[in-house]
Amino acid sequence: MTGPLVLGIESSCDETGVGIVRGHELLANEVASSVEEHARFGGVVPEIASRAHLEAMLPTLERACATADVDLTEVDAIAVTAGPGLMGALVVGVAAAKALAFALDKPLYGVNHLAGHVAVDLLEHGPLPTPCVALLVSGGHTSLLLVDDIAGVAGRGIVELGSTIDDAAGEAYDKVARLLGLPYPGGPVVDRAAATGDPRAIAFPRGLTSGRDLERHRFDFSFSGLKSAVARWVETRERDGLDVPLPDVAASFQEAVCDVLTAKAIDACAATGAKHLLIGGGVAANGRLRSLLAERADAAGVTLRTPRPGLCTDNGAMIAVLGAEVVNAGGRPSGPELGADSSLPVSRVLV
Ligand code: KG4
Ligand code: ZN
Repeated sequence: MTGPLVLGIESSCDETGVGIVRGHELLANEVASSVEEHARFGGVVPEIASRAHLEAMLPTLERACATADVDLTEVDAIAVTAGPGLMGALVVGVAAAKALAFALDKPLYGVNHLAGHVAVDLLEHGPLPTPCVALLVSGGHTSLLLVDDIAGVAGRGIVELGSTIDDAAGEAYDKVARLLGLPYPGGPVVDRAAATGDPRAIAFPRGLTSGRDLERHRFDFSFSGLKSAVARWVETRERDGLDVPLPDVAASFQEAVCDVLTAKAIDACAATGAKHLLIGGGVAANGRLRSLLAERADAAGVTLRTPRPGLCTDNGAMIAVLGAEVVNAGGRPSGPELGADSSLPVSRVLV
């Protein structure tokens, strides 16, 4: 067994995650989700998330240590999500990690949640060939990244090629689910509803793909126009007294999202010369996104790396493995004054 033994703590949104890795080997990945407490509000309520993290943190930590059969005194380092995310939620994880690092006299690394979504792939597929394009699609972020060094210490580190100018892809799923009367979080339910629908039934718009938009926003995304188009289509049907064919709406919406995400990701590979493409974030669990991307990557001669769906959503293992990469790269531990940054840019892997 090689590599440092790292404990990772994640608390940026509604999942309390504690992971333990040794280098690229996953030893434990325990997650406590407060998603059900937010469901009736149709989205994450920050104060509820913070309180849930506070309650779940130690039990989740204990479960992770038991699963990995690791005593806390054995770990080489503690990594924690320092941002981006909900401030009150981040603070709970950072405070817990600081207390552990102080009590155990271990080095502490405050790391970037978005870089963690990319790094999690190392647990399944080993070292990342670079340069690599990463398509990051979650509830809060949607961006295309050029990854030269995941630890952010060598070469260009992580460069953002583009991002959403309005809603994130997962946010669009959640909002469309809501207007279709489906529960939160919307991604998995829309994904399931779409399975029996016709993706060509309704021609929904593909944001920022026209010639003029591509000049200024080649690698950017926009999903709020799509969301409004779905809302208008549903309203018109209802006004005309017609039924709303849920599977067809879900499939046509999903096709519009996945078409744009995959086309721009492949274009980013062509533009940068990257031969490897990786996907991460909650929406990367989407069945259609995975199959369409596999098809288009194959046609473009690009090798696709897709972490298993269970590792795409927020978890502590992604933070632990990113921490292990930072330790290996000789990154400097964060000081005792480490804070949380709700809008930490992805280019800043280590805080
Ligand atoms: O990465 P993540 O767990 O949390 C954030 O950092 O935001 O992503 C959560 C998002 C939610 O918007 C959820 O609806 C979406 O990922 N999601 C999906 C699927 N599973 C989760 N979206 C589409 N298809 C899925 N199967
Ligand atoms: Zn996330």
